Amino acid sequence: MGKSKVLIVGGTGYLGKRLVDASLKLGHETHVLHRPEIGVDIEKVQTLLSFKGRGARLVPGSFSDHRSLVDAVKLVDVVVCAISGVHIRSHHILLQLKLVDAIKEAGNVERFLPSEFGTDPARMENAMEPGRVAFDDKMVVRRAIEDAGIPHTYVSANCFAGYFLGGLCQPGKILPSTDSVLLLGDGDKKAIYVDEDDIAMYAMKSVDDPRTLNKTVYIRPPKNILSQLEVVGIWEKLIGKDLQKSSISAQDFLASMKEQSYAEQVGLTHYYHVCFEGCLANFEIGEDDVEASELYPDIDYVTVEEYLRRYL
Ligand SMILES: NC(=O)c1ccc[n+]([C@@H]2O[C@H](COP(=O)([O-])OP(=O)(O)OC[C@H]3O[C@@H](n4cnc5c(N)ncnc54)[C@H](OP(=O)(O)O)[C@@H]3O)[C@@H](O)[C@H]2O)c1
Repeated sequence: MGKSKVLIVGGTGYLGKRLVDASLKLGHETHVLHRPEIGVDIEKVQTLLSFKGRGARLVPGSFSDHRSLVDAVKLVDVVVCAISGVHIRSHHILLQLKLVDAIKEAGNVERFLPSEFGTDPARMENAMEPGRVAFDDKMVVRRAIEDAGIPHTYVSANCFAGYFLGGLCQPGKILPSTDSVLLLGDGDKKAIYVDEDDIAMYAMKSVDDPRTLNKTVYIRPPKNILSQLEVVGIWEKLIGKDLQKSSISAQDFLASMKEQSYAEQVGLTHYYHVCFEGCLANFEIGEDDVEASELYPDIDYVTVEEYLRRYL
């Protein structure tokens, strides 16, 4: 069986460009949506041109032009969406619903991966306001996909390493200090950290895989399931020095959140669920779903220590 033809939507984004890279490396005929709205954004245009130089096909298409989306989708077998999780109610959801409509009308798509790539929204029905908007929106998109009978795979990627490891699991930080760290609670709740290139590779491996059809793929590299304290310990070993540690209680964390902007509060509630409640690692994967590092043991995933070495 030949490799499927893939369309990546949101291909110039943080995760999207890695998905395009993985798709090309795996030998898929790779199409990337080129939205006219990016205009003279030189970085995006250059990124698109670099994909073209590597053999990708740029496909014009806009979310405000349904026909253009249908035409783009008709070119391929698989659609992977990586549009941003902009935390403005109805924005992310609206765009994805437009894509679902186009896929439904085109009728040829054998697999759709919506823009998920984080905490499994199906497990977050009791999530806190305002962060729950991200999960609620992703669930609305899931329902639309399932109602339309579109074959799909949901990728639960857990923590993007750059955001979480870079800041030693402290919100608002993406570089590790060599002096001090703020522990969230006791710093003992396990989370799961995944290199962003690995996320993209696992996701793209899943698109042609019958084992992932209509399933959630959890990315849980076993060596990367660690608490904040364990992450800090690895960093301390690398720099040969102990960090000064202080800690913030759940109560103070929630109280301090109130002074932040709406978008920041959304991000902070996600940190709350991950770091104070351990929502990523406190459940077993159900029989109906699958784990990426077990499915694809050939991927030599980046460990937390290897990732942190980049900051030395
Ligand atoms: N688990 C984690 O730790 C974590 C962290 C961050 C993100 N995520 C998830 O990963 C996914 C991708 O996020 P990201 O950070 O890679 O996104 P991003 O870089 O912020 O944006 C990705 C793409 O979204 C498209 N986009 C943005 N605004 C748009 C608009 N108004 N109209 C149409 N398209 C728009 C753009 O596509 P073009 O290329 O067409 O311009 C952009 O390149 C999201 O679902 C997010 O929730 C997870």
